[in-house]
Amino acid sequence: MPLIKLYFTSALLLLALSCRLWQVSQSLPVMGKGPMTDSCTLYARTLLQNITDALAQTKLFSGIDCAKQNLELNMETSTPSVCTPLESACPGITKSQFDQESCVTNIGEDLSHYYKFLTNQPDPEKLLGPTVLLSLRELMENCFKGSLPTDLALKEDDGERASTYNERLNLCKVLRGFQVRTITINRAINYMNSK
Ligand SMILES: *[C@@H]1O[C@H](CO)[C@@H](O)[C@H](O)[C@H]1NC(C)=O
Repeated sequence: MPLIKLYFTSALLLLALSCRLWQVSQSLPVMGKGPMTDSCTLYARTLLQNITDALAQTKLFSGIDCAKQNLELNMETSTPSVCTPLESACPGITKSQFDQESCVTNIGEDLSHYYKFLTNQPDPEKLLGPTVLLSLRELMENCFKGSLPTDLALKEDDGERASTYNERLNLCKVLRGFQVRTITINRAINYMNSK
């Protein structure tokens, strides 16, 4: 019996200690890679709007009913899990636990992933370049500095050719996944902006 009591006491003590530590760490300045400003929420909203508009362009997906395709998510990042704030288990603390730095890093990796993908798509009708790619670039340059790939090889003529059926099908699935991820990113940026 005393042994159980001891365990219980030390468990409580440990909880109290870790809560104490957590409180201390919370009072340190947040070291995000860049604060999310109001303009970041606007850039993210524009990107989402432009992706949604692109998905409605039947020319981009000719021969394919894009709305009926499965979406393909980027599984190389953990944005949905790291960008979801967790409620604290510590008594008396209502603030939620949120790792801003890792959320920002994961979003940057997502954006960079989609940027590389989209720059490699044939776009003879310029339905992606001046819309989705441009707003994606603006979001990266202004709010996720450093995520813009510097090693993009110039593919001057490649973008002019017509896309193949498989390229259109793949673009549809990836773009649908990008839309879902961008909704998550919008939510995370709004949350970071409101903190
Ligand atoms: C992208 O979306 C924004 C916000 O809805 C809109 O104002 C803008 O015209 C769109 N860009 C293009 C090129 O469609």
